[in-house]
Amino acid sequence: RKARSGSRRRRHWERCSCRLTRTDSDVQVLVLPTPDTAALAVAGFLAQTLRRAPDVVLGLPTGRTMIPVYRGLVRLHESGLADFSRATTFNLDEFTGLPPGHPGSFRAYMRQHLFDHVNLPRGAAHFPRSARTKGSAYDRLIERAGGLDMCLVGIGRNGHIGFNEPASALTAETHRVKLKAATRRSNAYLYGDRPEKVPKFAMSMGIGTILRARAVILLALGAAKAEIVRAATTGPVTARVPASLLQTHPN
Ligand code: PGA
Repeated sequence: RKARSGSRRRRHWERCSCRLTRTDSDVQVLVLPTPDTAALAVAGFLAQTLRRAPDVVLGLPTGRTMIPVYRGLVRLHESGLADFSRATTFNLDEFTGLPPGHPGSFRAYMRQHLFDHVNLPRGAAHFPRSARTKGSAYDRLIERAGGLDMCLVGIGRNGHIGFNEPASALTAETHRVKLKAATRRSNAYLYGDRPEKVPKFAMSMGIGTILRARAVILLALGAAKAEIVRAATTGPVTARVPASLLQTHPN
């Protein structure tokens, strides 16, 4: 093809390709041009991980951000490119006090968007349980499975990861959380857009549970998340922005 002028080529690059930026920490920031390309990049990366290490132990999130990621993974599975038969998964969080099978639970979300469409064995998917189980038992269960090889996380607009809300201090291990009003609002999509129906409490992996994963991927989609992503990746490391703790993670 005829070479384009430098400036046109640069504009083309800005429009169509990704930018990889290294911050002062070990965080690598990959910027993709559309939500779909970003979600598919993560799906492709997870599928590649499954091919390289079929017995991978994954930490998995929910949220609207992850719906196109799981859609992409299901397509890759249908094309024979993502085999879950030897994988183990641990979800980051789950509401408490819901009856088993409740359609607003994260277990129901995971079945709808991923588990019912791939070959993850029954019993290989884990969720933090509140019922009389101490939260840290979940951390021990993860340890017995060999630890998380890779943990995928979303980010709330207040900087939370999992349900680790901004605070003066963060809890290391899996624990019970009282959800902030903003967090209940952002989960209202699971409850017919009625925030008052969203449970008030949840169990969440702690910040230490997430940081002990051998690799962490955070995916954020849309301009509304730009400011908090900047704060989390280049701002001070502080419990007031729980995702900023990822700056201390080597991978
Ligand atoms: P969202 O939630 O994907 O629905 O924006 C992300 C989060 O709160 O972690």
